[in-house]
Amino acid sequence: MHVYFTEEGSVEAVNARMGKDISPRLATVMASLVKHLHAFAKEVELTQEEWDIGIDFLTKTGQICSAERQEFILLSDTLGFSMLVDAINNRRPTGATENTVFGPFHVDGAPIREHGSSITLDGKGETCLYEGRVIDLHGEPIEGAIVDVWSDNADGFYDVQQPGLQPKWNNRGRFVTGSDGKYSFVGIKPVSYPIPDDGPVGQMLGHLGRHPYRPAHMHYLVTAPGFQKVVTHTFVGGDPYLESDTVFGVKETLVAPFEHVRGATEWRSPFDFVMVPTAAPVGAREPAHATAS
Ligand code: BEZ
Ligand code: FE
Repeated sequence: MHVYFTEEGSVEAVNARMGKDISPRLATVMASLVKHLHAFAKEVELTQEEWDIGIDFLTKTGQICSAERQEFILLSDTLGFSMLVDAINNRRPTGATENTVFGPFHVDGAPIREHGSSITLDGKGETCLYEGRVIDLHGEPIEGAIVDVWSDNADGFYDVQQPGLQPKWNNRGRFVTGSDGKYSFVGIKPVSYPIPDDGPVGQMLGHLGRHPYRPAHMHYLVTAPGFQKVVTHTFVGGDPYLESDTVFGVKETLVAPFEHVRGATEWRSPFDFVMVPTAAPVGAREPAHATAS
């Protein structure tokens, strides 16, 4: 038994303190967290000064958080942790629409709009017709799917970042599919923008020689009874930040066509959402560390 703390036995000393009757999952998660946290300090021979800076950083990260600002999510996003947790929890068969990061700018309860109508209320930006179908893995249309969409405006800000300056629900809306599974709406061709970088996470990015930009994207939350929720974006091909998205959200299958058209709208972006039934096993793939038999 490791009762007293030693450098060599540090993990055992801490983990041995856990009670016997605690949640088994909590015990597993915390034992692993302590193991890897201690291994990190040992691997880099963390100095006291460095850990003081770390504590100061975490303190400031907490202090800047408010109802409108969630700096810990930005930290998780910029360290690639949000995308990792999402990947672990949303392994899908080939052909299904992939997830990506949710981001902090979704607002519940956006207006339900008619198909083909515009979500852009400030009149700014290049107009784009978004259209496609919500289908299952066999290509069959899904009726009653809700396609909840949101994007930044042409200046690179979401409406919630500029209350009073942008109309409420600017570049947001929900569209409900009929029996043909089709959706369509007019938005703008989105623009790339920096994530909020005036706090500790922005400073961290600066120290690491990283920029805070996300490539231009349209956000989607697609839900339908009996199907796994799809949290995703479509990205504008050719964006200069596609390969260096500060939150690692880009996936090849999510880079959508944006075709220049002559007509009422300047662009057209077709994209189908392929949904997986909730009954399908989630995480069907073998874990990466599984040994071959
Ligand atoms: C976004 O795409 O809205 C977003 C995602 C992660 C961090 C900040 C913003
Ligand atoms: Fe976004």
